Amino acid sequence: MDVYQSNRAPVAIDLSDNTNLRGAPPAALRAAASAGAEVYSRYPSHYANELKRALADWLGVRTDEIVTGCGSDDVLDSALRAFAEPGDRLAYPSPTFAMVPYLAHMNGLEPRHVPLLGKARGFDIDAEALVAERARVTYLCSPNNPTGTLVSAQSLELVLREAAGLVVLDEAYVEYATESHVRRARDDGRLLVVRTLSKAFGMAGLRIGYAVGAPDLVQAVEKSRGPYKVSALAERMAVAALDEDRAWIADGVANVLAARDRFVAFLRDLGLDPLPSAANFVCVPVANAREKAAALRERGVAVRPFAGLDGIGDALRISVGPWPIMEGALPALSEVLR
Ligand SMILES: Cc1ncc(COP(=O)(O)O)c(C=O)c1O
Repeated sequence: MDVYQSNRAPVAIDLSDNTNLRGAPPAALRAAASAGAEVYSRYPSHYANELKRALADWLGVRTDEIVTGCGSDDVLDSALRAFAEPGDRLAYPSPTFAMVPYLAHMNGLEPRHVPLLGKARGFDIDAEALVAERARVTYLCSPNNPTGTLVSAQSLELVLREAAGLVVLDEAYVEYATESHVRRARDDGRLLVVRTLSKAFGMAGLRIGYAVGAPDLVQAVEKSRGPYKVSALAERMAVAALDEDRAWIADGVANVLAARDRFVAFLRDLGLDPLPSAANFVCVPVANAREKAAALRERGVAVRPFAGLDGIGDALRISVGPWPIMEGALPALSEVLR
């Protein structure tokens, strides 16, 4: 396998990674400023118990239904290690989060991709084809990266009813959507809902992810995760944000949703046909996506290009942030995409 890479060269307007373009939560920054020496000199708690407490309060679940990790990448990796043996199958829709086939290879699993249903079916997952893979783990993502589209309730039900093993539902962007399946995960012994503080919560650099599921599932992931995965500073900052900055988060989400509507209208005026998005980014089919992304980068705007996506073709994934930031990118986008 290749080493995972993406273009991280600095650029004036970075719309490439779907992080919170407004920055980090103010209470988290205050907590960092007031951290004493022991936050740096001593080990954190084994399994980030205070973070679990704050997440449980926020989500309305119990602490024994939560496992945390060093970003949701780490939680996904730990879940695969906990529930699958080398040689087992990992089934997932295509396109989806680019790390999924990497995580399969890292764990010696056989990646099995199943194309999304087309535009006429709202880019829903092909639930029947996914369960037909009889995979040890089935990965779903809603809202899905890079399409921004949702898994329908009907398709999720079918997968939960008929999948051969664990079902992982990645909700990295769920704060921008209307419904989460966290409650469902508590009652369904095979569903693990994975989430992150990297996106709407504005703390990607701290690397904090978590999953919610039945206590047995969560405990298996915690064993495979091992201790000390969340640093003491990251835990302290995340707890401050979860306890004190809920209004800041909600406000940021509302702001992005309003900016996304304006941005979609702008793209349509250019004659483009973005996919319906339930996230803080839009997926825009364009010819020669890599060349267009390079031309945008030359003009100070970074977006994420994709070549030959199943059922879509070439496309750009463009993050949405506060409107003044988006406005700064419009001239370059008009010039390159018109
Ligand atoms: C769908 C999805 N899941 C998980 C992640 C990983 O997030 P993190 O490891 O920062 O929590 C990302 C990041 O882009 C993502 O898009």
